[in-house]
Amino acid sequence: MKTKWFKDAFIYQIYPRSFCDGNGDGIGDIRGIISKLDYLKDLGINAVWLSPCYKSPNDDNGYDISDYRDIMEEFGTLDDWKEMVKGMHDRGIKLIMDLVVNHTSDEHAWFVESKKSTDNPYRDYYFWKKGRGKDGKKPPNNWISRFGGSAWTYDENTDEFYLHLFSKKQPDLNWDNPKVREEVKGIVKYWLDLGADGFRCDVITYISKVEGLPDGKLGGDNMFTHGPNIHKYLQELYTDVLSKYDCMTVGEAAGVTTDQAKLYTGNGRGELDTVFQFEHVEVNTFAQIVPRKVKLNRIKEVLSKWQTELFGNGWNSLYLENHDQPRCVSRYINDNVDGDDFLRKQSAKMLMTMMYFQQGTPYVYQGQEIGMTNIEFHSEEEHVDVLSKTVFRLVKKYAPFLKGYAMRALAIRSRDNARTPMQWNAEKNAGFSDGLPWYRVNPNYTTINTEEALKDPDSVLNFLKKIIEIRKGNETIRDGRYIDIQKDSKDLFAYRREAEVETLEIICNYKNKEVNYRADAKLIGKGAKIELILSNYQNIAYDQAEYRDFILKPYECRVYSIKK
Ligand code: NOJ
Repeated sequence: MKTKWFKDAFIYQIYPRSFCDGNGDGIGDIRGIISKLDYLKDLGINAVWLSPCYKSPNDDNGYDISDYRDIMEEFGTLDDWKEMVKGMHDRGIKLIMDLVVNHTSDEHAWFVESKKSTDNPYRDYYFWKKGRGKDGKKPPNNWISRFGGSAWTYDENTDEFYLHLFSKKQPDLNWDNPKVREEVKGIVKYWLDLGADGFRCDVITYISKVEGLPDGKLGGDNMFTHGPNIHKYLQELYTDVLSKYDCMTVGEAAGVTTDQAKLYTGNGRGELDTVFQFEHVEVNTFAQIVPRKVKLNRIKEVLSKWQTELFGNGWNSLYLENHDQPRCVSRYINDNVDGDDFLRKQSAKMLMTMMYFQQGTPYVYQGQEIGMTNIEFHSEEEHVDVLSKTVFRLVKKYAPFLKGYAMRALAIRSRDNARTPMQWNAEKNAGFSDGLPWYRVNPNYTTINTEEALKDPDSVLNFLKKIIEIRKGNETIRDGRYIDIQKDSKDLFAYRREAEVETLEIICNYKNKEVNYRADAKLIGKGAKIELILSNYQNIAYDQAEYRDFILKPYECRVYSIKK
């Protein structure tokens, strides 16, 4: 039943809360998405990954689900959802839902039951344990929540702790319980039968924990990441449900190595189609929040490694942004490009070129197509994300002198950067909502917005459209071998994609300065047909565009097609 359409997909991620508000309550919703389907079709993308839209008390903006089979009231109804899927399918767009099954909300009926007594039938849906220490009030082990602090919360009612690798309102499901696995299969089947085309599997590498939940290294990481039964559980889900549908899966896989990724996505293993690895988005941060200086060499090293190692046996996801990552122009480009609109656009286009000519399935996150930037933070109150709030709470409790540092670090790294409302036009609230938006609109919406970008032939959006167009049906991009050609350059990220009839040469100047490029005489000498197929400097004169030694302007990128 399954085909490999994910290899030809170009996926647009929607974070529904911030995308478009259809009813004026300040919160993005499904009717808002429906109103933008023509916009999405026009971009050329052929699939949407929709962040969670299920019922949720919104401790973590929908990543805490209280009913897997229904839609969050703020977002609309199941009928709206059905209309949205139909609208997508009518336009040749597939829908990837977010599958958040490492944990539920603490308000999910299973957890409400589970809390009631130690012999409740739902008790084993979650992890409950007695505390340590004389009074039993110390957490059962040393595991640290991904949002900071112990991964355990004490519950007075039964005098036990429950496990939550994220906030205390996100208790972890116990996948070792076969009933839990059956429930998950039921949920997956439910949405596929309703018309979904696949799933992005949230923190899927955490679903199998080491038996007995012992202390581990690094806050327990090695006891719950890629745990003992992970491959068995994924294969079971695949065999029993996923293999029967023409769907795709992409697993969120923090900390995954290339060897592990081959196991998750390798041909014929029947687990996932592709994974999101994190190495390139962690080059400038440590432990999710501590900023580090970005080094081009490191980015090249990481991306080239993923390209070469997964070639022929696995499949990459190509992304620079999502709802958890800061905006890429602000993040990867050191210069204050925000102040220079031309360079902001050039660097946004260069980053797309660097990423989207690699092998794998590309993702573009809402707003990335217009080069949206991080937002400025002036006070602690402007941080609304549960992760940032936890950081401030812990700093206040244990190290108040670090408050200034936390403000600076979060300004760069905070997930709120990616969650500011989508900028549609230069009118009220950037055209996102008629009401008061749930979160701050970036003041630069007057210049950075889709209406402007659609009109401007030189916009990031129109550049992305060209890339999407070039990728369509291009076998060199889909199947060609990746070759890093400027390993030692401190300024350039350049690579080739080699296939039978064509070679693509992708050259990106990563710096805000002119840089020399040395063309490969062997390629020119053979009398090959060399054509410039993409460039972010519109006014390149033809002779400058020829493939020979040349000077690249700040953030210039070029793609040459070379045919024998
Ligand atoms: C990963 C999601 O992308 C993130 O937004 C969320 O907070 C955690 N998983 C917990 O579900």
